[in-house]
Amino acid sequence: MFRAYGNFIRGVSANWIGRLGVAATTASFLLFLLFELASLLGIVTNAYVGLISYLTLPAAFVAGLVLVPLGWWRQMKVTGKSSTELLQERFDRGDLERRRIGSQVFRVVLVLTAVNVLFLGAGSTQMLHYMDQAEFCGTACHVMAPEWAAYGDSPHANVDCVECHVGEGVKGLYESKISGLRQTVLYVLGTHHKPVPTPVHQLSPADETCLHCHSVPDRTELAIRSRARHDFDAESTPLYSTVAFDLGRRTDRPGPHWHAREDVEVRYASKDDARETVLWVEVREGDGPVRRFAYDGPWHEPAGDETPRVVDCVDCHNRVAHRFEPAERAVDRLITEGTLPRVLPEIKEVALAAITADYPDREAAQVGIARALRNAWHGEQRTVVTALQPEMDRAIAALQATHARNVHPEMAIGWGTYPDHNGHAAPGRGCFRCHNPDLVDETGTAIGSECTTGHAILADESAAPFSVLTERDEQGPDAETHRYLREHFEGLAVPVPPAL
Ligand code: HEC
Ligand code: HEC
Ligand code: HEC
Ligand code: HEC
Repeated sequence: MFRAYGNFIRGVSANWIGRLGVAATTASFLLFLLFELASLLGIVTNAYVGLISYLTLPAAFVAGLVLVPLGWWRQMKVTGKSSTELLQERFDRGDLERRRIGSQVFRVVLVLTAVNVLFLGAGSTQMLHYMDQAEFCGTACHVMAPEWAAYGDSPHANVDCVECHVGEGVKGLYESKISGLRQTVLYVLGTHHKPVPTPVHQLSPADETCLHCHSVPDRTELAIRSRARHDFDAESTPLYSTVAFDLGRRTDRPGPHWHAREDVEVRYASKDDARETVLWVEVREGDGPVRRFAYDGPWHEPAGDETPRVVDCVDCHNRVAHRFEPAERAVDRLITEGTLPRVLPEIKEVALAAITADYPDREAAQVGIARALRNAWHGEQRTVVTALQPEMDRAIAALQATHARNVHPEMAIGWGTYPDHNGHAAPGRGCFRCHNPDLVDETGTAIGSECTTGHAILADESAAPFSVLTERDEQGPDAETHRYLREHFEGLAVPVPPAL
């Protein structure tokens, strides 16, 4: 058999093209086997090895397969001989002699074809599987580095990219591969967008992605969110804001998931691609009439993409896997956690200035942040700070890490490049994109934008995180929620502000 194979290879490699083809096919096949063996034995686990063994090697293999007949065809052209003449010239008479199942050459071709089909079949299944893995999507291409970093510390770090980015069935697979191919071409040509544009227009509807794992409760389910904004004073005093959402879709007092009811459809069109400036919103509840709220503000001729979009989960939860924090919020979080100690005078102001300064690249930012902190204090404050070296080192390290996590100059991502719609934190307007006085129906009525439309308020820049538990409001719009919360929380330890 090996002799037959050797004869065959010598025979078909009619010229340098054919020889190159045979070399490419054989080498890529053997290397593939080697890589597979190595990864089976756990010797290599790197994503780049996958890039070689599942993309480059099969490509080289196919290219080789194409070159062999190409070489043969060229040989016919150059010598002016027919295929039969060439066959007779390049193979022994015995190899061409017809037996029970064709000639020796024919049988080798048959076996090789079977091997090729098996190899390419196995290779492409492996390749599709490999390309579905988060590690491939996130690390094979440097453009993804910021999303990969954000994903790694998100609640979805164990959910594969394809669960959200690829819809169901062949259509989802095809669309995602075509889009991936386009991105690869743009990347190779160096004309890819920086930053990667958002929203992702070809994202599949939520029932093919998010709803595979999540469901939204029907009845009352309270979620409490509390956070401190720190003041720009010497002690960076915490000011607590706490809100309670009713996450149920069908509750007496509707909450944000009212938009997610099956019998509610909210559609909108926006002036800009980022879906920040909404032109009009239409809403239909059950069999009721369509109510339309349209822009009636300072710019009178709204122009933009009027293709309507139906609100689904990602119109609010757009950053679930790739959250980039606004700079002030990042600093506030570090102070609340105690990583930036409030004993460092005016640490809020100093830290914010350090991380928002303009730095050309990551290295400059790391050096600049350290320098900004070390040079921030003078006079009496300097004496205080000099005694706090360990705190200072910890603060610098935390700010450097936060900057590196959120700011990616190589992809033109700065603070606030990707606003989170779930809320109304600057730079985005989130809920206020629709809930604002400029979008009105024909009677001039706007979509509600009072603070208590979206959530009950338990503290609003207050000294304590649950000020309503102590300062009772028996009449206001949240009285019912507050009563409920008091029943649940009275007697429980309320979190206290971190000590100075
Ligand atoms: C839990 C769902 C989910 C997972 C898992 C997920 N993504 Fe995303 N991704 C999204 C959503 C939602 C958007 C924003 C879509 C929008 O605003 O239209 C997005 C946007 C993006 C963007 C566009 C740029 C941007 O930041 O908005 C890139 C690139 C991206 N994701 C890459 C990845 C990669 C790579 C992985 C895996 C390592 C991944 N995603 C995993 C949901 C997900
Ligand atoms: C493969 C399953 C899966 C898919 C698909 C998925 N999630 Fe999740 N999601 C999870 C898991 C697991 C958690 C973490 C739960 C926990 O930590 O308690 C989570 C957490 C969340 C949270 C709460 C944490 C946060 O970030 O605020 C939200 C909101 C959320 N997912 C929304 C979405 C949306 C929107 C989509 C679609 C774009 C989606 N998820 C797709 C599994 C999934
Ligand atoms: C109109 C905006 C909006 C839409 C649309 C929306 N949500 Fe939410 N969702 C919120 C808000 C606000 C919260 C509460 C704050 C938070 O947890 O981020 C929330 C909370 C959640 C949570 C976290 C619950 C927890 O206990 O942490 C999950 C999971 C979730 N939503 C899933 C979904 C899914 C799935 C969809 C689509 C069917 C959806 N949401 C549609 C606004 C929305
Ligand atoms: C795309 C536009 C749009 C966005 C974005 C949006 N909403 Fe709405 N929302 C509406 C419309 C339209 C209504 C129905 C208004 C009405 O009935 O008067 C509504 C109704 C509501 C209601 C029910 C009010 C009631 O009394 O019926 C709540 C609660 C709500 N939204 C909260 C939110 C929150 C919280 C966010 C952000 C996380 C948000 N919405 C984002 C368009 C939007």
